[in-house]
Amino acid sequence: MLSPQALLGALLLSAVPSALADTCQAPIDHPGEPYSYVQPRNTTILADGHSLSVLPSPNMTGNGGWETALVKAKRFVSKLTLEEKSWMATGQPGPCVGNVLPIPRLNFSGLCLQNGPQCVQQGDYSSVFVSGVSAAASWDRQLLYDRGNAMAKEHKAKGSHVILGPIGGPLGRSPYDSRTWEGFAADPYLTGVCMEETINGMQDAGVQANAKHFIANEQETQRNPSYAPDANETTYIQDSVSANIDDRTLHEIYMWPFANAVRAKVASAMCSYNRVNGSHSCQNSYLLNHLLKGELGFQGYVMSDWGATHSGVASVESGMDMSMPGGFTLYGEEWTEGSFLGKNLTSAVKNGTVEVSRLNDMIVRIMTPYFWLGQEKNYPSVDASVGPLNVDSAPDTWLYDWKFTGETNRDVRANHSAMIREHGASSTVLLKNERNALPLRKPRNIVIAGNDAGPLTQGPNLQANFEYGHLAGSSGSGSCRFTYLSTPLDAINTRARKDGSLVQSYLNNTLLATEALTSPLWIPQQPDVCLVFLKSFAAEGEDRTSLDLDWNGNAVAEAVANHCNNTVVITNSGGVNVMPFADHPNVTAILAQHYAGEESGNAIADVLYGDVNPSGKLPYVIAYNESDYNAPLTTAVETNGTWDWQSWFDEELEVGYRYFDAHNISVRYEFGFGLSYTTFDLKNLKAKDSTPANLTALPAKRAIQPGGNPALWETVYTLEAEVSNTGDVDGFAVPQLYIDFPASTPAGTPPNQLRGFDKFHLTAGEKKTVKFELMRRDLSYWDVTAQDWRIPAGPFTFKAGFSSRDFHARKTATLIKA
Ligand code: BGC
Repeated sequence: MLSPQALLGALLLSAVPSALADTCQAPIDHPGEPYSYVQPRNTTILADGHSLSVLPSPNMTGNGGWETALVKAKRFVSKLTLEEKSWMATGQPGPCVGNVLPIPRLNFSGLCLQNGPQCVQQGDYSSVFVSGVSAAASWDRQLLYDRGNAMAKEHKAKGSHVILGPIGGPLGRSPYDSRTWEGFAADPYLTGVCMEETINGMQDAGVQANAKHFIANEQETQRNPSYAPDANETTYIQDSVSANIDDRTLHEIYMWPFANAVRAKVASAMCSYNRVNGSHSCQNSYLLNHLLKGELGFQGYVMSDWGATHSGVASVESGMDMSMPGGFTLYGEEWTEGSFLGKNLTSAVKNGTVEVSRLNDMIVRIMTPYFWLGQEKNYPSVDASVGPLNVDSAPDTWLYDWKFTGETNRDVRANHSAMIREHGASSTVLLKNERNALPLRKPRNIVIAGNDAGPLTQGPNLQANFEYGHLAGSSGSGSCRFTYLSTPLDAINTRARKDGSLVQSYLNNTLLATEALTSPLWIPQQPDVCLVFLKSFAAEGEDRTSLDLDWNGNAVAEAVANHCNNTVVITNSGGVNVMPFADHPNVTAILAQHYAGEESGNAIADVLYGDVNPSGKLPYVIAYNESDYNAPLTTAVETNGTWDWQSWFDEELEVGYRYFDAHNISVRYEFGFGLSYTTFDLKNLKAKDSTPANLTALPAKRAIQPGGNPALWETVYTLEAEVSNTGDVDGFAVPQLYIDFPASTPAGTPPNQLRGFDKFHLTAGEKKTVKFELMRRDLSYWDVTAQDWRIPAGPFTFKAGFSSRDFHARKTATLIKA
């Protein structure tokens, strides 16, 4: 085994095309003393505390289908002046959250960049779709595609050229990260599928997608540097947190979903706020030039997160192509004026610091997806109504005289509500169902409890953890404006009225947890069912401090259950909640619905009443105790050194269920778990064809395409199994395949890793064959010495079933002989 230093040496010598001294980055990242520690731990951190430098930034080639668009983009760029090019690489205040100025003499109407991952953030009369975590919980490729496609149609109709999403990071290294609901699953494989389907859906509608946040943006705390409140707010107090990750983990966990995004030809990627291995993500040439543009063959443009640019020349040389929002820079959470690019970039080109060829490549990268998606032809104008809703640059900050044409306050919703309702139901996860509690059978006497059941009480744009009202989205840049919201209270009352049921609602959590239930006014007779709606809020900017439900939710669940012998708890949450009430014998059923969008109430009623058989599966682990989770966020840095915010990803590959499985820790509900109103079985896991003869451990070196070496994406081994519906109602099965790698794989390889799943309908008694097609990457680990994906020698164990801990069939196979 090589020492970390030797490995890093091997990396420096063998793999990196041009490893230069970090001349661009050093003065900017660390203007003062060199680092006091030297501990590479197989990261790309150099002795001075920076990430390895890889220059120059590769030019795009257009390969993978963008060749014609590239020609158009080059022709366009050849007509631009130096100043125009510089300004195109930076944003301007304007109606959209990010704006690239129009160039009327070339009939270019500019670019409108809009959040976000669940809706048109600044869109009135637009739909609120299910959140990312809900979509991931559906484990449904078609749903993911349709959601992305419909969302993009609404964006397009409002005039957005670029959607700032989907989110491949945070991945959910820690459940305390508050943005996991914007992203997908605490697993790279599932998140990779979600990224790919969403991007395909979005870009098929003609809108550019943006894969964010590249990379390791796994906490909000100290995501940005803090600055002294001096006159210019330019003196560092402490730099942003550095996510320090070893090479193998970076490839197998955090970069994995971005590889899927690049393979789907995502138009742009957003470099993140945090530093990675010592250097800011947006001026980290190892990440952007070597990994993203080099190894993954990314053909689009890298845009900074809002205010994540901390240098001009260094960022440009390191592979960042567009600085957002441009004329402003974010210090801490404050905005101050000034851009690192713009006229500074013009000067840098004029004085020879930056080659004009680099600037040309930046603009060619920005314009190629525009032509590829046909955005130059009849693209809808920006709806004037988005401007006043822009929280990043209010109209009084605009410098350019933006002109608006076309209808204002466009209603772009089409008939998407029906789809959103279906999506909300099929992404709901049934965690417990005892004594046949669900589905409901015309209950005569219903109690609805909890402050999460009723209407919004603080406006249509959820900007805070409000006490009263149903939580179907959250705040920050991923927030949405609800044109309307179907609440559980409405939806259940509508059903109950049809059935002639009595409905009593108790929405005050404080009263519920204390006195309400003991008062004689409480339920005069035992209700048939008590439906308790509880929530927890998680939003950009501040990490979670607890995994409990908010507003005393656990106590509410316990109190209701103490008085009601058929208590059903429904949670609306951004991610993990530990659920101590799950052991209460009167809590007969639990459903996790996450943030389910505008049709949330109807969707949960559809599941409760059995119109839809639940089929969602957990995209993360629900542990017994908060203390059972590993990888705590870096929060309590009490020293005041400039670079003291270091987050060592020492758990390496043991992220999420991988950790719980590696250490045999019991969990309450495992990754991939979710009940149905029917039951399924899976058997006869076998190879479809004979084991491939001539399979090589390393892939053939083929020309890089978007997504990297195309050999990695070839199916090399296919397994099949028989899945049957063994219950007496129809339902959707989600068979899953996990891999236990051969013993020859380097230490630290987790015992179970998801590498395949499918979702399909089975009528009662029906059987179908599930096929798991394994690509070379699925069967490989990242070999840090070879700097390549290697299929290990010796026997693999393939485990198939219905969760990460519910295996119904196994098969071993050796693909590479020792
Ligand atoms: C967020 C991004 C978002 C951007 C623009 C940032 O604070 O991290 O996800 O797209 O703001 O609103």
